[in-house]
Amino acid sequence: MAKVAVLGYGTVGSGVVEVLDTNALEVANSAGESVEVKYILDLRDFPGDKHEAQVVHDIDIILNDPEVSVICETMGGIEPAFTFEKKALERGKSVCTSNKELVAAKGPELVEIAKKNNVSYLFEASVGGGIPVLRALNDSLKHEKVDAITGILNGTTNYILTKMDKEGMGFETVLKKAQEKGYAERNPEADVEGYDACRKIAILASLMSGKHVDYEDIYTEGISKINIHDFEYARALNMSIKLLAMCKRNENGFFTIVAPFLVPSENPLASVNGVFNAISIHGNMLGDVMFYGKGAGKNATASAVVADVIDMIKHKDKHIEVNMNAEKAQLSPKDNAVRRFFVRVSDTIADQANEVFGNDVEVVKRNSIHGEYAFITDLISEKDFEERLGKLNGVKGYLRLY
Ligand code: HSE
Repeated sequence: MAKVAVLGYGTVGSGVVEVLDTNALEVANSAGESVEVKYILDLRDFPGDKHEAQVVHDIDIILNDPEVSVICETMGGIEPAFTFEKKALERGKSVCTSNKELVAAKGPELVEIAKKNNVSYLFEASVGGGIPVLRALNDSLKHEKVDAITGILNGTTNYILTKMDKEGMGFETVLKKAQEKGYAERNPEADVEGYDACRKIAILASLMSGKHVDYEDIYTEGISKINIHDFEYARALNMSIKLLAMCKRNENGFFTIVAPFLVPSENPLASVNGVFNAISIHGNMLGDVMFYGKGAGKNATASAVVADVIDMIKHKDKHIEVNMNAEKAQLSPKDNAVRRFFVRVSDTIADQANEVFGNDVEVVKRNSIHGEYAFITDLISEKDFEERLGKLNGVKGYLRLY
């Protein structure tokens, strides 16, 4: 029987215990032995809980117990999670986590520590919640040259954008509704400004590059400037607006960005609605493959953590290779990326906009929106676009085209 400890008995941690209880037979069949939760670390007590006897408040009880071979860190945040994980790996215990902040910041370092100690460090639940995308990258797609990963990696913003599109409500109104329903945090900044998606694409980009893509190096724009008129234009163009996080391989290394994009409706990412996530991966031999599912939620996220627990039990006394190391990946500058842009300006500066962007722009007409001139630029670099846009006084908004 394998003995595990769960650090943090919040939403995900209690979900992990629930999955191990509910699917005990399936877990045992998959792991090759039954799995027992020996300890649950939390600051709180849980009187009346089925597992109250397993609750401890001192990490050393877990670290000093040689019977515990696997640790699930579901506390979140950098500290004390980092110290606990590091100590556990150094004591020869495998660690898995749903903690995207920590994996984005310290994942490659923790993978190296795991390797040195001949144990494993896995983090399936840190990206795309229950979607088994990291395991696919690390296993089924390992022989591919992955040249692009594009994801809708944040359920909160996808829910907000879907509601704005389908129900014609403004950003603030939808955000308020999302907060009431528990789909958005009371402090929604990490989601709506793209920081959460940024950490997740940093993890995917690290796995793609085999190095450490620092999330602080990733250009990130959120969705708070999107306006309901943008959706009217998007519909006229037969496109959807999605917060995309992407990493592309190019001749100079890797380019990553998080920003709202106009996505043509024939692209499957355009049809990913509500709180769902999707990750599209392009391999040189395989072509495109897309993973879709619940990117958050107690049971879905916990299921991904349990998949790691099983993998680590099956590979007892072995290090499971994870394609990343602590060397910093070279990212190519955003300025050089070339794409088309959709721009809305006041109609009083339409002639000036044409002069600045060239007369062959594609004009986007929406008679219902008065006082505006909207157009799509030719292919243009990010730097060139920024410089030209800076010459205009009366810009109402812009979006990148995917
Ligand atoms: N706030 C995140 C989301 C939760 O909305 O996707 C999952 O990481």
